Amino acid sequence: MSAERAAALAALPQGVAQEILALRDLYPTLEALTLPALHIAQRASGGWLPASAIEGIAALLELSAARVAGVVSFYDMYHERPVGRHRIRVCTNLSCQLRGAQEIMAAIGKELGVDEGEITADGRCSFVHFECLGSCDTAPMMMVDDDYHENLTPDRARQVVRELP
Ligand code: FES
Repeated sequence: MSAERAAALAALPQGVAQEILALRDLYPTLEALTLPALHIAQRASGGWLPASAIEGIAALLELSAARVAGVVSFYDMYHERPVGRHRIRVCTNLSCQLRGAQEIMAAIGKELGVDEGEITADGRCSFVHFECLGSCDTAPMMMVDDDYHENLTPDRARQVVRELP
């Protein structure tokens, strides 16, 4: 391994490389570990993937940093910039749009006191609009971290956000 790759690997948060390599036998190739590796690195990096994490994963999986960066930018589940501790995704696709998604967005922004994509001053939340989350029959809806909140009203959305720890 080159000195550059070794340095990139060493810059990964502690324990990340070991946690990823523990999965090695479950995947046919090192490259196939890319998605779980990015999840692990993102969790260990405070919910987003700085360039150092991308370079570290690339070094670990023997890929180019550009290849890993391409995966990161392709999937919405990876974040290239800091996000709040709780990530709120409001579906604004057709069914949700027709049933009030913009009012849900506005209510959340007002409750949090930030615009879309910004992080609250305490680092607790950030919110973005999102493409269809596959729950069109319960529109309008949003996803908070891993949980769906469906059949929302602006009041209900505000309450969900207010109750987040
Ligand atoms: S349109 Fe909102 S979940 Fe499908």
